[in-house]
Amino acid sequence: MPGHLRPYAAPDHEPTPGRRGAVAKLLAMLCGGLATLPPLVAGGWNFLDPLRRRSAAATFLPVTDVASVPDDGLPRQFAVVAERVDAWTGFAAEPIGAVYLRREKGSDTVEALSATCPHAGCFVEMEPQERCFRCPCHNSRFMLDGGIVAPSPSPRAMDGLECRVGKNGEIAVKWQNFYTGIAEKVARP
Ligand code: FES
Repeated sequence: MPGHLRPYAAPDHEPTPGRRGAVAKLLAMLCGGLATLPPLVAGGWNFLDPLRRRSAAATFLPVTDVASVPDDGLPRQFAVVAERVDAWTGFAAEPIGAVYLRREKGSDTVEALSATCPHAGCFVEMEPQERCFRCPCHNSRFMLDGGIVAPSPSPRAMDGLECRVGKNGEIAVKWQNFYTGIAEKVARP
């Protein structure tokens, strides 16, 4: 047998006092780590709170008042303004969309239509001379009540919005975005 080879010796499986101390430390660290998990999860949930709020359901937003919507049956366009929360940042009130409001002679009932084209999301324009709406992107045309003028690239009529007239004549609209390019009116989350 060559001189540099040593005979095999079985390892000693009984942990030494030093080894036992290391194992105890490791277990303590694991337990400590587990104990900090619940506060971390709770903190993370609060940290993500703005993201949760961003998907809140549609709400009524003040737009204008009845006196600003002439009762001649012609739709008028108004900006929808709201404070925006983008992830963790709050912004000052700014336009987030537009609506057409109209009312008939002597009526306080106000009809609201989203100005977003249901075809692909361009802004629909009013054509007062022709008494209809027209979308400049692909030429969809709509009647004053939002009904579709066939044939049309748009798969559906303009999207109606819920509208409230308050005691003092203020008009609030339930602002919602809808999926474009489909026949059904489906609100976006
Ligand atoms: S986006 Fe309006 S017709 Fe296409």
